[in-house]
Amino acid sequence: MRDKVEIAVIGGTGLEGLFNELRTVEIETSYGQHSDLMVGEVNGKNVAFLLRHGRNHSIPPHKVNFRANIDALRRLGVRRIIATNAVGAINLTFKPGDLVVPHNLIDFTKQRPSTFFDEAPVTHVDFTQPYCPEIRSLLVKAAYRLYGAVRERAIYICTEGPRFETAAEISMFRIIGGDVVGMTGFPEAVLAREAEICYASICFVSNMAAGVKERLTAREVKETSEEAMPKIRRIIMETVKDMPRERRCSCGSSLKEARV
Ligand code: HPA
Repeated sequence: MRDKVEIAVIGGTGLEGLFNELRTVEIETSYGQHSDLMVGEVNGKNVAFLLRHGRNHSIPPHKVNFRANIDALRRLGVRRIIATNAVGAINLTFKPGDLVVPHNLIDFTKQRPSTFFDEAPVTHVDFTQPYCPEIRSLLVKAAYRLYGAVRERAIYICTEGPRFETAAEISMFRIIGGDVVGMTGFPEAVLAREAEICYASICFVSNMAAGVKERLTAREVKETSEEAMPKIRRIIMETVKDMPRERRCSCGSSLKEARV
């Protein structure tokens, strides 16, 4: 029988070094093909590792099959997800390289299937606090312990992409209280909640958002991301190590009282 895999990491290239004996797995899902998925061991625990954009970074943010990804993890038995995201800083006190654990999000995506509940029974999951408080707290503690600083409250704005934002859009996001902007935090977070899986993200600022400088380049984002990766890797390893066996949050009963 396959070993249980209760923890998953969703991230980009650069995290492979997290694991011993990584093996590729393919899971049949109800939503088609998932992104490249591997299973390995981290600190003696089985951990799934999902490369959101694929091994060769070939899936753009608006084409990620988020439902297949979360469904595949659910079928593996995953109950906790640690996600990583590169973000642009909307908040002008944030700087490239900063570590950020968002506490809330605003969805500005436009054309992504973002629920498992397209049919009856009509289901309205609670999303008041979109991130698991237990995993957030572990990420924040690990980041402080290892690096002495982390933005532990931030509102994540999710845009559709793949283009970067206009300066006017970023000004609007700043006015409504957004701190960071990315293209992949949603619907990942809500699908995890619908699947009753804990979910939180450790983000790093790869650039100041549009309008701060004259131009924004994907190269800038990639270069800062590569620099941040060793830090993210260590924070994730610590978080996996510190994860208690039993969940003390309410993520596991998200569907209770969610049906009309
Ligand atoms: N905007 C949207 N997504 C991003 C950015 C940005 O500035 N940086 C990294 N991901």
